[in-house]
Amino acid sequence: MTTIKTATPDSIEEAAAIVRKGGLVAFPTETVYGLGANALDGRAVAGIFAAKNRPAINPVIIHVAHRADAEKFVVVDARAKGLMQAFWPGPLTLILPKREEGGVSDLVSAGLPTVAIRTPNHPVALSLIEKAGVPIAAPSANASGEPSATTPRHVQDSLGDRVPFILAGGACSVGLESTVLDLSGAEPVIVRPGAVTAEDLEPYLGDVLMDLGSHDRPTSPGQLLKHYAPSIPVRLKALDVAEGEALLAFGSTKFMGIKTGGFANQLPDAKFRNLSENGDLHEAAANLFSMLRDLDNPENKGIAVMNIPDQGLGIAINDRLRRAAQGR
Ligand code: TXA
Ligand code: MG
Repeated sequence: MTTIKTATPDSIEEAAAIVRKGGLVAFPTETVYGLGANALDGRAVAGIFAAKNRPAINPVIIHVAHRADAEKFVVVDARAKGLMQAFWPGPLTLILPKREEGGVSDLVSAGLPTVAIRTPNHPVALSLIEKAGVPIAAPSANASGEPSATTPRHVQDSLGDRVPFILAGGACSVGLESTVLDLSGAEPVIVRPGAVTAEDLEPYLGDVLMDLGSHDRPTSPGQLLKHYAPSIPVRLKALDVAEGEALLAFGSTKFMGIKTGGFANQLPDAKFRNLSENGDLHEAAANLFSMLRDLDNPENKGIAVMNIPDQGLGIAINDRLRRAAQGR
């Protein structure tokens, strides 16, 4: 049984007590829902991996309420400090050298000498971390391999009884996981694109590389794994809709035809979602995972996705869509 409670000071305190006792709670952030546990408690963190069926090689992000807290757990150089001042709280995760004396569980970092850390920009998340009094390790609150959950219902649909407590705080405003920036080497490298783009970072860092890795040469363990994949095939840059397919549209569908005849606007609700009728990338990002889940229905033969421009936030959206299309 899962307890789902609207986030209030009382329910946040209840969730914080669960975290302090070594339990798991799902909570909202501005990016996606997180499945949180005390980052200093190895047994609690092991619970996250079990609930998600997450491979132990994949490290998780820790969340702190205040910039100053980061220095207890990781080595913060001048570069990192500048970025924290500019972008925290917000959807930017920094990979930094781990401080052994900080006590972060080795499971969090999957044995790596680095830890990924961020301060989320969501009042419920911040209050939960503050009340728990410990850093909270939290991957996205979905079963490993599935699209991330951006609503309390999707957390419950994906994790079922494996999530004992959900703090409900509505839909996530960003909708895509944070940008992950590796600052542990000489050159800053984006290993997962997100709402904070390379252009946003360049005034602080100069040139920023993007390395989304490959199977033989991952730069971050998460890149190795199946990700964001619905249970039916996903087809990208679709110019029309095949028989039995659902359409995930972006912008106007005036010229989208159905191969067997007719037009996209005649598709039934179960086979049609539009990420953003006006072609707005922020709206599209916020809708992406929940619309993929809506269309992920065995009655649909697959999901045809219209082209999305590979600029700004579109780079992060296309990264998730490519991984969804690679499937298993
Ligand atoms: O927006 C987000 O980042 C959400 C919310 C809950 O904060 N969290 C999230 O966590 O997306 P997760 O675990 O689903 O994704 C973390 C990514 C993974 O791809 C992982 O491989 C990478 O960050 N990562 C974590 N620690 C790392 C490290 N020390 N070195 C390299 N990559 C790391
Ligand atoms: Mg995830």
